[in-house]
Amino acid sequence: MNYRHAFHAGNFTEVLKHMALCELLRLLTAKDKKLFVLDTHAGAGGYDLESDQAARTKEADAGILRLMAAPRAGMPAAVARYLAAVAAYDRKFGRSAGPLRHYPGSPRLVRAGLRPGDRFVACELHAEDALALKREFAGDRGVEVRQADGYQALKALMPPVERRGLVLLDPPFEAADEFDRLARALKQALRRFATGCYAVWYPIKDEAAATAFKETLAGVKALILELRLRAAPEGKLAACGLAVINPPWTFEEAMVEALPWVGSALDAGAMLTSRSSASSPTA
Ligand SMILES: C[S@@+](CC[C@H](N)C(=O)[O-])C[C@H]1O[C@@H](n2cnc3c(N)ncnc32)[C@H](O)[C@@H]1O
Repeated sequence: MNYRHAFHAGNFTEVLKHMALCELLRLLTAKDKKLFVLDTHAGAGGYDLESDQAARTKEADAGILRLMAAPRAGMPAAVARYLAAVAAYDRKFGRSAGPLRHYPGSPRLVRAGLRPGDRFVACELHAEDALALKREFAGDRGVEVRQADGYQALKALMPPVERRGLVLLDPPFEAADEFDRLARALKQALRRFATGCYAVWYPIKDEAAATAFKETLAGVKALILELRLRAAPEGKLAACGLAVINPPWTFEEAMVEALPWVGSALDAGAMLTSRSSASSPTA
């Protein structure tokens, strides 16, 4: 495992994934019923944008930093809430001014969105990042950090006792068969817990592979969100997607409003496709 997420923290793919994640959490915690969240590929929890790794790629410049610099006029509520969550994490480090320095990973955003009584398991396989994640949440009983294979945890933990759940699947796509593994894991999870909400991130490097993955979602109620940068540095990932299976009520409405705005702020094409369980793409 060579992938280290610190090189990519806060890039445009994170903006898409984390903005949607914040909205999912908000909607899923609006009901007075307990929620279970599983982050199968959790990363280190939080990232210093001035670290050697982040400074080497500067990927946040075309992602969260560009979004934060965009004029706020007409900013959709879901984007404003995501930016507020990002700023709140930075403030934990005693910062109140200057450019954003500390960017929250998915486990931090999840933790901030949960209520007492909700349950959260975060899995990370890489020893160093798992240790960083354990340190990030040391003493916090609201998060169970496991140094474990997220796919195995998914198998073991579905269905959750709460019967209400959100699963974030965000693998590094280092392995050539990651799409296959992801599709298999998802299929199995859906068999065990058909009503769960699953947010699945994927890169669009190989169009055919991304399309084939989306085709595996036939028969499932899903919302597909995609961003394609108009100008990406040579050799860098320029497009990605997030498939949200069984999205909560009004999530689509929020994304219809937020996604084009994010696309325009990041100079990216934005596309939203809605699939009902019985039919093919509608928009
Ligand atoms: C894209 S990053 C996760 C980023 C994180 N979800 C976020 O949004 O902040 C993928 C992470 O998965 C870890 N990883 C790789 N294979 C794994 C596996 N089988 N199970 C759990 N974690 C894995 C990598 O070490 C890496 O930290």
